[in-house]
Amino acid sequence: WIASVVGLAIAYLFGSTPTGYLAGKLLKGIDIREHGSKSIGATNVLRTLGKWPALVVLLVDVLKGAAAIVFARWFYALPSVTPPAALDLQTWVPWAVCLAGLAVLMGHGRSIWLNFTGGKSAATGLGVLLAMSWPVGLGAATVFGVVLAIFRIVSLSSMLAALTAIALVWALEQPLPYRLLVMAGGIYVIARHRANIQRLLAGTEPRLGQSSPEAK
Ligand code: G3P
Repeated sequence: WIASVVGLAIAYLFGSTPTGYLAGKLLKGIDIREHGSKSIGATNVLRTLGKWPALVVLLVDVLKGAAAIVFARWFYALPSVTPPAALDLQTWVPWAVCLAGLAVLMGHGRSIWLNFTGGKSAATGLGVLLAMSWPVGLGAATVFGVVLAIFRIVSLSSMLAALTAIALVWALEQPLPYRLLVMAGGIYVIARHRANIQRLLAGTEPRLGQSSPEAK
């Protein structure tokens, strides 16, 4: 059990890497959490720091989600990380990997390096989806792209992509642990968009390219 916790802690630390925050500090000497939507995600980096930093933050945040899954698959399959004798390895590893997927999302949303503040875990979630099952990731990314092209609102696109991922794991009859991971992760991502939902309802959510969201 200690090994399981160590694996989850490492996945959480992957997620905790505060890419957007570091970009703000290194490029402009600012705390991005005091600007725009106050999120450390790529969308707020785009508003606050511009296109190229946003692209790098997006890529790193996607990669850290995928890396946590790749790591967890390797780690939990190590002979020394032995599950309790009563549990069958083949059933134990997928559950542990899925929990690591949740841990990396939590790390991005509540980073240990930022007093448990952070981002909304959409990009990191995409990385998790792509590493777990690329058709689900691709489907979610496609819906994200289409909604963004139509409405030009990133938060709306992220939330609809999260719902799409949930629908796809059921439609594609994915293994139970993965279905539960995507449901829990999707709900987590949507819950992190609370302020965006309020702004969407109030009609004040900024569209892509609008530089000053009325973020409170
Ligand atoms: O992934 C985050 C995005 O969906 C919304 O970001 O900065 O507009 O709250 P933001």
